[in-house]
Amino acid sequence: MADPLKLGVLISGSGSNLQSIIDHIEKGSLNAIIKIVISNNPDAYGITRAKKHGLPVLIFKHEDFKSREDFDLEVIKTLQNNHVQLVVLAGFMRILTAAFLRAFPQRIINIHPALLPAFPGTHVQKQALEYGVKFSGCTVHFVDGGVDTGPIIIQSVLPVHDDDTEETLAARILKEEHRIYPQAIQFYADGKIEIDGRKVKIKSANKTSFPALHNPPLAGY
Ligand code: GAR
Repeated sequence: MADPLKLGVLISGSGSNLQSIIDHIEKGSLNAIIKIVISNNPDAYGITRAKKHGLPVLIFKHEDFKSREDFDLEVIKTLQNNHVQLVVLAGFMRILTAAFLRAFPQRIINIHPALLPAFPGTHVQKQALEYGVKFSGCTVHFVDGGVDTGPIIIQSVLPVHDDDTEETLAARILKEEHRIYPQAIQFYADGKIEIDGRKVKIKSANKTSFPALHNPPLAGY
């Protein structure tokens, strides 16, 4: 088997996606190693999760840096010193500077709780409910200079129910995030990802088998 892919995971909050990555590594379904966890929020619960699993964690507070650039330079240096091959944004609520993108070209991925390009940014489950979409979901994508605009690696689609609240929808989406993020990282670890402009192809991936989804379901048509 190939050497495990070296990850740097950036968090700001609960860290449930970090937990899912840890769990997949520990059960052997993700060939990766977390070299460093970085949080920009000293109160993030993800810090506790990382420590429970003996992972190195660093906390960088914005107020300790003069500018966004200085903050990012410190993060870049830390990731490089840890020989990180893939930067994984897992609920990291901050836009990266151009220097960060240049330091890790096509080597930064993010998970977003909506079916991009619909509903980028924040409070996206609320946005989806207010818009009245019948499906939402989550997206893993490469990070580029825009907000949630980079090439898409994998998406998961979920129905939105009439009685959904922001919380119930977010919880169902999060469950799917925990499935697709480790899978996207494993695609990367396996060298299966080909990027051609905006399009990402996964070498030897099966064609998705269902012809279409309907919400509400079709009534006999
Ligand atoms: C997740 O839903 C993730 O998709 C979202 O923050 C949550 C973090 O949860 N990220 C974004 O909205 C980024 N645009 P977690 O800390 O439990 O993994």
